[in-house]
Amino acid sequence: MADFEEEMVVTPWKVAGKIDYEKLIKQFGVEPLTDELLRRLEKFTGRLHLQLRRKIFFSHRDLDWILTLYERGEKFVLYTGRGPSGPVHIGHIVPWIFTKHLQEAFDAKLYFQMTDDEKFLIHDDFTLQKAVSLTYDNALDVVAVGFNPEKTRIISDVRHIESLYHLALRVSRHITYSTIKAVFGIGESDNIGLSFFPAVQAAPAFLESVLAGKPVPCLIPAAIDQDPYWRVTRDVAPKIGFYKPAQIHSRFLPGLGKGGKMSASQPETCIFLTDPPEVAEKKVMNAFTGGRPTAEEQRKLGGLPEICPVHQYLFFLFEEDDEKMRRLWEDCKGGRILCWECKEILAAKVKKFLAEHQRKRSKAEKTVKKYFLSKAITPFKA
Ligand code: TRP
Repeated sequence: MADFEEEMVVTPWKVAGKIDYEKLIKQFGVEPLTDELLRRLEKFTGRLHLQLRRKIFFSHRDLDWILTLYERGEKFVLYTGRGPSGPVHIGHIVPWIFTKHLQEAFDAKLYFQMTDDEKFLIHDDFTLQKAVSLTYDNALDVVAVGFNPEKTRIISDVRHIESLYHLALRVSRHITYSTIKAVFGIGESDNIGLSFFPAVQAAPAFLESVLAGKPVPCLIPAAIDQDPYWRVTRDVAPKIGFYKPAQIHSRFLPGLGKGGKMSASQPETCIFLTDPPEVAEKKVMNAFTGGRPTAEEQRKLGGLPEICPVHQYLFFLFEEDDEKMRRLWEDCKGGRILCWECKEILAAKVKKFLAEHQRKRSKAEKTVKKYFLSKAITPFKA
């Protein structure tokens, strides 16, 4: 588990240390989501979504530009994705829930990429079959989030490469090996598949343009660790006749242990969407908190909600009410509430959420096929 003392590392393949989001904004050269921009968004979305009010989505590129086009009647397409390396956990669906909100607010089409190829290339012990079957398993969670079936297309890179390859080729011709080495830290002993892969992840940003036969703006909601992909994609886009895709970036949901983002490699600190609700409840009740060693000390000194994952879970997802959230923070600080009480509040909400999600997930088994790309998108006539 990443410790708070460890140095901050944020790449598409590794996130560690205490994350300083202000610093990331500077390092990555992205723009903070200003209050002014949020007010502009609010005109289209109605009351700001929890994830915007609380700055869980905190930075962007060209969001202002995409809104200007929208105001002039030019609609954009959404693009997000998932690397299917195991079961989906609660941290993964935070940006999906927000993407669904955007889909509804802007009546937008969504491409959802499953990078089973990427996971096959990264994990030495993965067969292709395993990667693809995880795509289909994880797609059930995507569908359960409630995307519009008419306007959502899930893409398995391995199964649907015909739609992406022509774009990936055009992109790849404009990216040198030295760029890939510098941006992704790929080394001499990494397999060659990984150096081509960023062109595959770029491709869905341009799919709608191919379909429409003219450039269509694209907005990518994603966690900030995916930013290196968009940097190279944006460099190439105008060279091949497309708009640069815009992005809106989210923070990471921490794990239930001390420090670090939620990670499937730490199953005891990670709530999977397929966890039986009672198992999830136990994980919550065993979570690390910002509490003091004894109740007496906590009453006297107050707790530390700023380092508490239980508090963060309520903040990211489970406590919709801003006023209640504020009171919890102050009651914790003031020593008026103890950790077991917050854990019980969270556990009840997590149990309810999982029961509901799992009901939708099993219904999705019947409908999931409809969401996958069924007809290849290519520029070829014959
Ligand atoms: N590379 C991402 C991952 O490992 C998956 C992904 C593909 C993605 N396309 C995306 C994520 C677009 C966000 C937006 O999780």
